[in-house]
Amino acid sequence: MKINIAIDGPSAAGKSTIADVLAKKLGYTHLDTGAMYRSVAYKAIKDCIGVEDENAVVEMIDKMDLQMNPDGTIILDGEDITGKIRTSEISMGASNVSKLKNVRKALVKMQQKISANGGYILDGRDIGTVVLTDAPIKLFMVASAKARADRRVKQDLEERGIVDDYDAILEEIEKRDYQDSHRENSPLRKADDAIEIDTSDLTLEESIETITNIVMDKMK
Ligand code: DC
Repeated sequence: MKINIAIDGPSAAGKSTIADVLAKKLGYTHLDTGAMYRSVAYKAIKDCIGVEDENAVVEMIDKMDLQMNPDGTIILDGEDITGKIRTSEISMGASNVSKLKNVRKALVKMQQKISANGGYILDGRDIGTVVLTDAPIKLFMVASAKARADRRVKQDLEERGIVDDYDAILEEIEKRDYQDSHRENSPLRKADDAIEIDTSDLTLEESIETITNIVMDKMK
């Protein structure tokens, strides 16, 4: 029987990368729940719907056709938005819409429905505490803001050939950390039964090895 695995932690802690690797190893599917909040932010910005109008955002979610494909591509109302939701504007927009109680309610419901039969690795902020409270394996990945900013700069350079302003990246990480962990509804928090892994001083390969060993051990 396939179980579900919960991975939580702050932005840019490497949750998605680890979830992808684990999913491949186990034959599971990775669901990036942050990308769902990003998709909502993308459409709200496009349709000029402000976060102060919670009802309008929820109404928009009810009408939108969001496909979270197992290969990681995201199709919103027929448009491939996979790359378009990775900008700084959408990162902050996602953090802003994720504060809204009824937005969370709608997305949590979708996430629980998608993963209902097991075989999923969900990564986000509230997976172990709200979405999959019964998940037999819960991980909480942390890293210092500096380590995460360093990785983001390296990743941007490798993937997009862009060198963004380091201080701006660090500031965005710290701002989102604060916002995501101080909001009223489902703030970022380690579940009591989650295993915490600090990857500040680990390379990507070391993080993958450490976490894979923990998961394989738990699955025995
Ligand atoms: O994981 P990410 O950086 O792509 O997430 C974008 C934003 O969405 C993040 O700043 C907070 C929000 N989020 C959330 O509130 N709950 C989740 N399960 C996932 C993301």
